[in-house]
Amino acid sequence: MPKTTIRDLTDAQLRGKRALVRVDFNVPIEGDRVTDDTRIRAALPTIEALLARGASVVLLSHLGRPKGKPDLEYTLEPVARHLQSLLPNPVSFVETTDSDEALRATLGARPGTVLLLENTRFLGGEEKNEERLARALAELGDVYVNDAFGSAHRAHASTEGVAHYLKPAVAGLLMERELQYLGDTLQAPARPFVAILGGAKISGKIDVIEALLPKVDKLLIGGAMACTFFRAMGLETGKSLVEADRVEMARTLLSRASDKLELPSDALVAPSLDTGAAAKAVARDAIPADQAMFDIGPASAKEFASEISRAKTVLWNGPMGVFEKPPFDRGTRAIALALADATARGATTIVGGGDSAAAVEQLGLASKMSHVSTGGGASLEFLEGKELPGVAALEDRGRA
Ligand code: 3PG
Repeated sequence: MPKTTIRDLTDAQLRGKRALVRVDFNVPIEGDRVTDDTRIRAALPTIEALLARGASVVLLSHLGRPKGKPDLEYTLEPVARHLQSLLPNPVSFVETTDSDEALRATLGARPGTVLLLENTRFLGGEEKNEERLARALAELGDVYVNDAFGSAHRAHASTEGVAHYLKPAVAGLLMERELQYLGDTLQAPARPFVAILGGAKISGKIDVIEALLPKVDKLLIGGAMACTFFRAMGLETGKSLVEADRVEMARTLLSRASDKLELPSDALVAPSLDTGAAAKAVARDAIPADQAMFDIGPASAKEFASEISRAKTVLWNGPMGVFEKPPFDRGTRAIALALADATARGATTIVGGGDSAAAVEQLGLASKMSHVSTGGGASLEFLEGKELPGVAALEDRGRA
């Protein structure tokens, strides 16, 4: 069921009102500097739209995992400063969240201004989704907007509980976009629909594989998780990462779906991650016993790119190798470039969050994708077909 969004709100619901917006500003910070502001920039369209419609914007977010009590290592203050550098409107930081001070600050906020309240995870009731806290947060706004797709798999007071006490409770524009691409587009994909999965472990992706197999035309598997499949095929995997307890599962998947599953035909191997200079490409049935696969090989990169070039819908989640360590970034780079080409010729390309999103950012190719998700765990759970509590709590279209 589609969710109501800020577009459905009337001017009367916004002008002169406080929009309480849950964002996911869980961003990397070094010292007091934000080192990757992708998630902050992704929330700007919602913030700007609400400001333009005469609301004041009260932002809630978590940062890190401070365990329910204040810990200045995780203060959102640097994020407030960074947000101010991106917005012409005044942005103020409020050092508390569940307090009279915070309530007064929101009540005194002028239309067109932004308040960022302190880390919701400084509050003991946040992760417990405590009713008292959810009700207190609900006092901080006149409408509730959830734009934190990256946190929507958490049933916390600021992502789920508050939506029961502050109505209307609607989706922001980022949330809407994430649900459209990861939900609607993949429910009825233009075909051929090709998915590429990578990353170290099959265990974390098994539910995604199960959910995708009936929908895709091809499922390409790279990353170290390919090695668990190689072992299931009876191949030598050398010192590669293999999940011994998942080999049986990989064998079952292969026998059920071998026509749809495509594994790398070659591998980039080396004695260790630190001996990249000695890396060489070998066929998948020739991985030396004393070496490990750290990336897909060049032939596989070509084969995968060719599948992608025929697709009308492409979903990618998980790197093809240890992309942080050249030369083991080549496979991931080749896939990112193939997706960029696919977008340019009209295919819909969707990059799941986490490492693959970081890789396309790092390669400067994010703008060449139809959509790069801001959710890591959330996008995986959503692709597994699970209902996300932060989404479920929002109003269905037609009810606001
Ligand atoms: C994320 O970075 O995936 C989200 O912000 C959720 O963070 P969490 O895993 O600490 O709940």
